[in-house]
Amino acid sequence: MTTIETYLSSFEAYLSHHPFEGFPDRLYEPANYLMKLGGKRFRPVMLLMACDAYKNSFKEALPAAMAIEVFHNFTLVHDDIMDSAPLRRGMPTVHERWDTPTAILCGDMLMFKSILFLQELPHLFLQEALTMFNKTAIEVCEGQQLDMLFESREQVDIPEYLNMIMLKTSVLLGCSFYLGARIGGAQKEDALALYEFGKNLGIAFQLHDDLLDAFAEDAMAFGKQIGGDILSNKKTYLLITALQKADVTQLENLKYWLKSDNTSSNEKVATVKALFIETGAKQAAEQEQQHFYNMALEALKPVNISDESKTKFRAFAQMIMKRTK
Ligand code: IPE
Ligand code: IPE
Ligand code: MG
Ligand code: MG
Ligand code: MG
Repeated sequence: MTTIETYLSSFEAYLSHHPFEGFPDRLYEPANYLMKLGGKRFRPVMLLMACDAYKNSFKEALPAAMAIEVFHNFTLVHDDIMDSAPLRRGMPTVHERWDTPTAILCGDMLMFKSILFLQELPHLFLQEALTMFNKTAIEVCEGQQLDMLFESREQVDIPEYLNMIMLKTSVLLGCSFYLGARIGGAQKEDALALYEFGKNLGIAFQLHDDLLDAFAEDAMAFGKQIGGDILSNKKTYLLITALQKADVTQLENLKYWLKSDNTSSNEKVATVKALFIETGAKQAAEQEQQHFYNMALEALKPVNISDESKTKFRAFAQMIMKRTK
């Protein structure tokens, strides 16, 4: 049976054979910089393992896997501008190392490169793949816009938050499984069941991402600024729940820090983190993450793949849930 490590190493080999080249350097260098900083490559692995589960081979899915990873990296470059993030994968973000116009253009170029990789798919399937891919890309933009709007909104509820992360993060995981399954020859219905698996896993993944943003223990391994979400008043599950559960004093304290415009304060991060724990918001977020992980495992049950493949999918899901970066 092909292991997750094999998908990963095949993908890395494909990636290293497809560096971004062209003129001017200033457009392509930041793209290679970011892509080579690593990243967990979860999305391409999802696509490859979905293809393999149906076809018992996955090499033909490498260009589509590349399309998804390149698209993901485009979203990261622009996300880091929007989030004023200093660090990505343990190194300065593109807009910090170069400048914002360079990062905008680098992201734009990556977006269109991703479509070029997708266009390597067989003609018969291309129309469907492009529709799914572009629909997903638009949803990611919708989610990212909601994420930004929520920063300055006082009141955001949990259903609104869940909808926002479904759009900004989890549809891309769903799309990765869908495309992989279809490339592997799965029926549409089956590919859609895997899409649901990815969507639920994606919600758990973003809840985990929000938890790590505040509570990652190893800052070096995490590779992003710890407390960035707190500093920018991101309406994460943690903050929304803390606001809901806080007593009078805790609420006053939280509101004070939300209004403070001291955006680089260690004190803000420390105080808000403590409040996340004291109000029970951290525990609630962990439970919600577990809930969506369980939903994902449920969604996997009816999928028509071998038990062996299902075991692999479950192991992969578990690996994602245990990540520390
Ligand atoms: C970061 O994604 C963006 C989110 C959707 C949370 P990853 O955590 O998969 O980032 P890399 O690619 O491994 O760096
Ligand atoms: C980002 O969510 C989702 C996308 C990149 C579309 P975050 O803003 O939480 O991702 P990180 O934490 O910066 O990786
Ligand atoms: Mg971000
Ligand atoms: Mg963001
Ligand atoms: Mg985050």
